[in-house]
Amino acid sequence: MTVHIGAEKNDYAETVLLPGDPYRAKWAAETFLKDVRQVNNVRGMLGFTGTWNGNPVSIQGSGMGMPSLSIYVNELIRDFDAKTLIRIGSCGGMQPQVKIRDVIIAMTTTSITTPSSSILRELNFAPCADWSLLHAAVQAAETKGATTHVGNIFSTDTFYDERPDLNEQMTRHGVLGVEMEAAELYTLAARHNCRALAVLTVSDHLQTGEALPSDQRERSFGDMVEIALEAAFA
Ligand code: HPA
Repeated sequence: MTVHIGAEKNDYAETVLLPGDPYRAKWAAETFLKDVRQVNNVRGMLGFTGTWNGNPVSIQGSGMGMPSLSIYVNELIRDFDAKTLIRIGSCGGMQPQVKIRDVIIAMTTTSITTPSSSILRELNFAPCADWSLLHAAVQAAETKGATTHVGNIFSTDTFYDERPDLNEQMTRHGVLGVEMEAAELYTLAARHNCRALAVLTVSDHLQTGEALPSDQRERSFGDMVEIALEAAFA
């Protein structure tokens, strides 16, 4: 039992998928796992544990933004012995070749600050994905036929962004998409010797203004869950 997770120590698996939305955690657990049980509902941030192909897996909502994700990931690693943590979420496209519904697998992530910035102080730390997960996820995504981009993303603190100049610099430097959680996930995984990855689908596009209609988000989300599960147990 921790401040934000009302579960017993062995209620979570070593492998945890982390969608931002707790209802997505519920949908994914009910759709893809067997023998599912709910293990957390503190603050409505639902968590579930079950099995996939016989392997124990948990799916825990992380909330939106790095401060929220940081709370759950710290507690999952320190108190529930999580070892493999995969964010599954959405992002905004930042390159013309990146289209709505494409999959972005984040090799590394750029940020202005993360909740870890005060620890790292003057260090411009480069958070990076676990290679074994990255490699397996790319193979799984390509096998599925998903158009997949692998590279740098931007983990921002502001969804309602007032700095178009910053986005221009990101685009100029090849950043594929923008989301709000991965930099802190990768930094915590590095600190605690865990494996981490972020698998994202492009739900909107900063340059074209397009957005994925809500009725089509479920299918893209399901593809990501499968890619993450296949990568975790490759
Ligand atoms: N900005 C930040 N986070 C996001 C976006 C975005 O455009 N789309 C999905 N997550």
